[in-house]
Amino acid sequence: NHSNGTSVEGVGGSLDERRSPGETDTTLTDRQGHPIADNQNIRTVGNRGPSTLENYHFIEKISHFDRERIPERVVHARGAGAHGYFEAYGKVGDEPVARYTRAKLFQEAGKRTPVFVRFSTVVHGGHSPETLRDPRGFATKFYTEDGNWDLVGNNLKIFFIRDPLKFPDMVHSFRPDPVTNFNDPERMFDFLAGTPEATHMVTFVFSPWGIPANYRQMQGSGVNTYKWVNANGEAVLVKYHWEPLKQGIKNLTQHEAEGIQAKNYSHATQDLYEAIERGEFPEWELCVQILSDGEHPELDFDPLDPTKLWDQEHFPFLPVGKMVLDRNPENYFAEVEQAAFGTGVLVDGLDFSDDKLLQGRTFSYSDTQRHRVGTNYLQLPINAPKKHVATNQRDGQMTYYVDRAEGQSPHVNYEPSLLDGLTEAKPQGKDHEPAYQAKLVHHKIDRTNDFKQAGETYRKFENWERDELIGNLVAALQVCRPPIRQRMIDYFTQADPEYGRRVAEGLAQADAGSPHLGSVSAQQGADLAERMGRRT
Ligand code: HEM
Repeated sequence: NHSNGTSVEGVGGSLDERRSPGETDTTLTDRQGHPIADNQNIRTVGNRGPSTLENYHFIEKISHFDRERIPERVVHARGAGAHGYFEAYGKVGDEPVARYTRAKLFQEAGKRTPVFVRFSTVVHGGHSPETLRDPRGFATKFYTEDGNWDLVGNNLKIFFIRDPLKFPDMVHSFRPDPVTNFNDPERMFDFLAGTPEATHMVTFVFSPWGIPANYRQMQGSGVNTYKWVNANGEAVLVKYHWEPLKQGIKNLTQHEAEGIQAKNYSHATQDLYEAIERGEFPEWELCVQILSDGEHPELDFDPLDPTKLWDQEHFPFLPVGKMVLDRNPENYFAEVEQAAFGTGVLVDGLDFSDDKLLQGRTFSYSDTQRHRVGTNYLQLPINAPKKHVATNQRDGQMTYYVDRAEGQSPHVNYEPSLLDGLTEAKPQGKDHEPAYQAKLVHHKIDRTNDFKQAGETYRKFENWERDELIGNLVAALQVCRPPIRQRMIDYFTQADPEYGRRVAEGLAQADAGSPHLGSVSAQQGADLAERMGRRT
């Protein structure tokens, strides 16, 4: 009985009572249950002779080892996870939460829902340093009584692009060159130079906000716009944000990050694990921003545009509960590597908005997980809901059990049926039924406004954050050829004239041989530019 309470069909009796003579709980066996008397020597013809093909224990052991890796996540490959709980406040700000959503996990003050969180970096591979400049992933699985809800977010509140069609190109440009297999900032900026909507996100990522000090001291955000639906089927638009409580927020300069990286590739994983082992449990408050459902022509941006912040002055953060992470995984691979989160995984009372990026994501996650983990990835304990599951989905690779209901005929794996099959659930409230009338088109949204918020963000930064931003951008752009540099400077100038001017001046200085701000990364940028013959 290894699964979430469901035993393997057809295996009766208690497994624990059957033992070979002298066998105890800690006796080594193979996966067939054979006690292993020799785990040191393979079977050979004489003690120096050739081995035989019937070395069953050896062949099983080595061939399982040969298959220990699964494909790593195509993005967010490097991560760390922890278990904990979410505790609802029963209110959204000062109002009863039921006014906006009927989702059960939020309704009663003090109600706890178990959670599993996986934090990650985005672009680099499974064993890359955790100090690299990159957004950070912040994915939470809530095991609610209505099934799972995954809030798959990042630390930053916005994203590079607003159309999912661009995602594979974006990721390719951020990844190593397909010929040389090393990272070249020119590839990234070549893509960004054709993607003006990314200017705001670039402004965050190249500032200290692009290197959170660790996973505990960072914020989280759902980024995309979702909906909340109440019992009458009425919807509002919501954005979700995680605010760190007692541990606070901390970011690193490029120089600080490089100091850590020289000694430790896993500082964020280690920090999270050790804090939890010490009993210093990190906590975040979940806040929402709420906006009535609609186009909001009075705003200078579209509320469905994930490259935009909803400013907190007009759309305050309303707390709905808090999360505590208080337990480390027992096994990294089983719980963290095989965890599968997706934006399609919502519960009653939560809904999608028409945010195009969100809709593209929603296809992508479970699609990749069927490839990365396997057809039956939802039967793994970390992904299975902690509640009744009864489906007519059957078979496929690695079927672990039949998710059949008590009382369901084993013959009836279809619905509808008059013969002891499964029946549909009762609706829990009125459906939210948005109406549409428009042409099917390939068009971008009207209010793109790509630069204004980037300028606001630039001006809100503290001086040291602006200095870092300029130094980091200059270091990366030094490697880029003139048309790419020029386009980026145009974008920064449209965001804020000073921003563009400082990047241009920094590049001119760097070209004249004085690496900007003397930062280590600027020196590396200059060296790389030199090697690649891209010095102007
Ligand atoms: C992971 C696709 C945008 C946050 C992934 C994975 C894919 C993916 C394929 C790997 C999942 C797995 O192997 O289990 C996309 C696409 C996007 C997009 C197509 C846009 C069209 C975003 C955005 C965010 C985000 C905007 C932040 C709000 C994450 C996180 C993970 C992830 C946190 C890691 C989940 C984990 O820890 O397992 N994404 N993504 N992604 N994505 Fe996205």
